[in-house]
Amino acid sequence: MTGPAVVPRPLRLQQLSDQPFVLVAGIAVVAPDSAARQAAERLATLVGGSVQATAAPDAAAFRLRLLGPADDERYPRTDPAGGEEALPALPAGESDSELPAGAEAYRLHVHGDGVDVDARTPAGLGHAVTTLAQLLTGTSGGARTLPAVLVVDAPRFTWRGLSIDVARHFVRVADLDVVIDLMADHKLNVLHLHLTDDQAWRIDLPSRPELVRRSSGASVGGDPGGHYTGEDYAHLVAHAAARGIVVVPELDVPGHVNAALHAYGELSPSGRPTDEYLGIDVGFSRLTAALPATDAFLHDVFRDVAAMTPGSYVHIGGDEVQGMAPDEYAALVGTAAAAVRAAGKQVVGWQEIATTPLEPGTVVQYWDVHADPAPFVAAGAAGARLLLSPGDRTYLDMKYHPGYPLGLEWAGHVELRDSYDWEPATLLPGLPAEAVLGVEAAVWTETLRTLDDLTTMLLPRLAAVAEVAWSAPDRRDWEDFRTRVAALGARWDAAGLSWYPSPQVDWQR
Ligand code: ACM
Repeated sequence: MTGPAVVPRPLRLQQLSDQPFVLVAGIAVVAPDSAARQAAERLATLVGGSVQATAAPDAAAFRLRLLGPADDERYPRTDPAGGEEALPALPAGESDSELPAGAEAYRLHVHGDGVDVDARTPAGLGHAVTTLAQLLTGTSGGARTLPAVLVVDAPRFTWRGLSIDVARHFVRVADLDVVIDLMADHKLNVLHLHLTDDQAWRIDLPSRPELVRRSSGASVGGDPGGHYTGEDYAHLVAHAAARGIVVVPELDVPGHVNAALHAYGELSPSGRPTDEYLGIDVGFSRLTAALPATDAFLHDVFRDVAAMTPGSYVHIGGDEVQGMAPDEYAALVGTAAAAVRAAGKQVVGWQEIATTPLEPGTVVQYWDVHADPAPFVAAGAAGARLLLSPGDRTYLDMKYHPGYPLGLEWAGHVELRDSYDWEPATLLPGLPAEAVLGVEAAVWTETLRTLDDLTTMLLPRLAAVAEVAWSAPDRRDWEDFRTRVAALGARWDAAGLSWYPSPQVDWQR
């Protein structure tokens, strides 16, 4: 390994000298702009410093700067996944040390007198702090130092997500907070919550109180359940937002709806509630377009969840509906999408929705690598945006190898290198490269019962997917990645996180 181990790999990282910057106790973290405060506080905690609005010009300090309003206005501050604008290219003649284009870009300069951090948004400053955390050495005992480096960095994709199934097994708020922190450690910016499925409905919606009252008490196999109150959800949204992460809620329709049918009998042709289901089969439940209650249900639940969600996107599911005529499927997807749009949000759905008429800009999430890709490629060519979650690369609930105690294997076995060694732009032949919105890992929880189970499946593969999503193609190299990721194991150990020591890496522990 030459040079510092930063994951995901920055656009540029230049070692400036062999003289590290030595931290002193109580060092100033200077943040003149109140919008920089959150990043400054995270940094102060990291380095044992104190946040200040100013400091003496010659004092050693971390200096956090947000660019002025003229630059700032071009970039959204609060919703990294919501930015639609074309980002300006680097001006001709701009030197390699300039801040690159993009809302999340940052520049980090560690020199003899301290550290200068520049960004356009609080999210950009947050990424710089994450990089500093990885650069910091000597945490035990002696002086803590930062190597003298210039880091100039920006993400490749604006959507770098993690989807978590909180329906099959409930994931407590405190555990989701840990996962959100882990996402920030990898510069991910979208938390997709799969809130509903056959087994349970995990979010309390004001217009439909029976959903959580009747359908959230258990998890797969009879394990303990739970649900998020409006307050819980607001907490998660805020915890994520403070780390530059936007929450995208998914209510999965028109299949995967047994929990809804169990709560509201009017949604079934029989008029009676279905039985609770705590197994792991898929594809057996469905809404019915001809029932008068269905339309009202879809409008109510999507209006409610959109109202609770400050981010720009709501996910309507749409996957794995077996035995439904294409017209009825298209009608139900259309109703759900219209409800989301009526609430002022943009629509995301699993790849199956590509077989229905889509509004331009709809986000189609690719997942099942066994399916014929023609409809997704056609949708992308016609104006849809593709979010890539190929099951054999990014489904982090797949077993690492045959016989691994956790996870499933329908999409194959996914070792660290499988999660790393693939290229989003050429994954779906024929798809225009500009149709690729981003990359999202997914973790389904049929077999995952605890936070330890969850992080064991995420780590180290989340680091691999994060680098695919963040780093430019010419910055990605498996041999280089496997040496950098080796340093993260000790950090996960120090944080008390369970992880899988893939034999593909010589871990430093
Ligand atoms: C899915 O894995 N059914 C989206």
